[in-house]
Amino acid sequence: MAFLAAALDRVKPSATIAVSQKARDLKAKGRDVIGLGAGEPDFDTPENIKQAAIAAINRGETKYTPISGIPQLREAIAQKFKRENGLDYTAAQTIVGTGGKQVLFNAFMATLNPGDEVIIPAPYWVSYPEMVAICNGTSVFIEARIEDDFKVTAAALEAAITPRTKWFLFNSPSNPTGAAYTYEELKALTDVLVRHPHVWVLTDDMYEHLVYGDFTFTTPAQVEPALYDRTLTVNGVSKAYAMTGWRIGYAAGPLNLIKAMDMIQGQQTSGACSIAQWAAVEALTGTQDFIPRNREIFQGRRDLVVSMLNQASGIKCPTPEGAFYVYPSCEGLIGKRTEAGKVIETDEDFVTELLEAEGVAVVHGSAFGLGPNFRISYATSDALLEEACTRIQRFCGSLR
Ligand SMILES: Cc1ncc(COP(=O)(O)O)c(C=O)c1O
Repeated sequence: MAFLAAALDRVKPSATIAVSQKARDLKAKGRDVIGLGAGEPDFDTPENIKQAAIAAINRGETKYTPISGIPQLREAIAQKFKRENGLDYTAAQTIVGTGGKQVLFNAFMATLNPGDEVIIPAPYWVSYPEMVAICNGTSVFIEARIEDDFKVTAAALEAAITPRTKWFLFNSPSNPTGAAYTYEELKALTDVLVRHPHVWVLTDDMYEHLVYGDFTFTTPAQVEPALYDRTLTVNGVSKAYAMTGWRIGYAAGPLNLIKAMDMIQGQQTSGACSIAQWAAVEALTGTQDFIPRNREIFQGRRDLVVSMLNQASGIKCPTPEGAFYVYPSCEGLIGKRTEAGKVIETDEDFVTELLEAEGVAVVHGSAFGLGPNFRISYATSDALLEEACTRIQRFCGSLR
């Protein structure tokens, strides 16, 4: 009898974490490697947030907290949804988890039965299908094609809905493409969802604050109030406040769903880290200066990377509205040969040979469910991005 659970046969390790590890390993061996694989801001957590955590330690806020989070943070979350998204939630309708990752996972755990379907636009964040698989659900993918600016159409969503559909999983701005839906684009999707009352909406708004130019962020329950009773809105402090290591994510939604997630979390990790929760209270209620500063820097980097990649032969790089990723196509290089004689047959070959030849680590699109593309995280310095893009240009130019 096999010792490991059968569920593990359905799960893959994270390709993005694997790429970061490979880059670290090569660096440790003395190779000059630029890692553009990691999905986290390169900035330090703002000082006011760090000080709030230190003050919490000094006050002795070092004990177990309520499972769903300290009341002060849940209240701050309810106010955030009101202030930034025009959504009315009571503190009791919110839950705090150890990262958005735990919140998403527990939402699936609390709702999926074998055979239940989750509609996921592809390309997708690598963890979505794996979470669904662990929770015995079935992922149903709909393509968000490069021709459609990496956004799914209302017709594609409509066609994917079956009587077994439990969730539509929405992520805007998107990891890995950076695509963000305008109000009108989102309304076209919510119009479909209104017609299918058995489908719930799980929206992952983790990159809400990272949108550029005059783009305005909107979220499904705001665009279509009729969906409020069947929407779980997930967010977190990781990306907006450079707090990836603090592990605080949160959600708001219907009370019975929040209670079910609370029950699971109570047998799993209990409340998130008390100190990190106090830091998150400061993130959500303190000065928000960091956000526009951060956004401006990222916008400059996006423009730099898009422009340089479009000058690389065989690469086509759309300009995304948000997040800190670009998702260029390398279709123009498939079938070409490296100087060492290796034929590039897939996007995975492309990223492997790029790392080999030029020491630039990026993630292949097939890991995100749509290729031939690759993902670049531009959450690193301008100087490194410029050097990395120069190397990508040289590599693409060397292919025959
Ligand atoms: C789309 C998306 N959702 C959720 C998360 C999870 O973030 P965290 O668990 O740090 O809150 C990430 C992190 O990479 C992400 O890219």
